[in-house]
Amino acid sequence: MINPTASWKTTPLTPVFGAIVEDVSLADVARTDGFFRLRALFEEHSALLFRGQDITDEDHLALARRFGTIEDRLADERTSDDAYKVPKVSNVRADGKLTAADDLHTLHLKANFLWHADSTFLPVPALTNILIGRVVTKSGGATELASTRAAWAAMPESLKARVRGRGIRHRYSHSRAQISPELAKLPMFHKWPDQHWKSVWTNPVNGKEALYIASHAFAVDGYDAAESAALLRELMEFCTQPDFTYSHSWQAGDVLIWDQRAVLHRGTPWPEDQPRTLSSLCVSASDADGLGTMHIMPQ
Ligand code: OGA
Ligand code: MN
Repeated sequence: MINPTASWKTTPLTPVFGAIVEDVSLADVARTDGFFRLRALFEEHSALLFRGQDITDEDHLALARRFGTIEDRLADERTSDDAYKVPKVSNVRADGKLTAADDLHTLHLKANFLWHADSTFLPVPALTNILIGRVVTKSGGATELASTRAAWAAMPESLKARVRGRGIRHRYSHSRAQISPELAKLPMFHKWPDQHWKSVWTNPVNGKEALYIASHAFAVDGYDAAESAALLRELMEFCTQPDFTYSHSWQAGDVLIWDQRAVLHRGTPWPEDQPRTLSSLCVSASDADGLGTMHIMPQ
């Protein structure tokens, strides 16, 4: 058994979830048995913060591959000559100018300001996002996390009972429609059919349960559209109370790694004349991560 904390200094990120890990080079961890330590901390704490990392795109890819299959949402849009590039969450265009406040790319970034887990609308949702601060803002632009494991554990039974055992449907365009009807119409948000996931994801390593919701969720089994919307809002409000959240103000070289099965996240606004670029790699969940238990069996 590897002792997950041996030689690594960890301190709590919040009283209820997350850990700050010090004295560790992620570039090394990506290529050594140190990864098993990281993975054990990930299962236990749901979110890990590493500061001051000197990490290239190659290191980032190598680390992500240790978690599983790297998600590639644009696979169908790339020709065989185009190399896969680490996706950037950024308001900086290829020509170096910043995206305009009202353009569709900016609106797409704004959709990240809604609490979500990544890729719940994909046939294979994400296990983790490894997010790296590259160009950071002087003010605003924090990334916030909310533990749906801690929130579920603290939720009154009366609220839990309204969602437990029910499936929830997720659709990419649903989160975009909350920002702009025009944005929601783009073909890129209609590539996948609605996904239907159980409302609670049980971690297969430690048995801990977490509510599985997102800005992409629009229907809860057994409720009509209005009831679903009201229930999802109530659940989201419960989970994102200050007791269950963490707000990260970025420094270049910070790396945040979180468990999408148990943590929601969102970006926060920043002055539009400031560039902001984060490198973001999502890794798809597998059956070893409990994905197989999340499907709703046809009745
Ligand atoms: C993401 C995301 C939020 C942010 O990378 O998936 O939602 O703070 N980012 O930019
Ligand atoms: Mn996201």
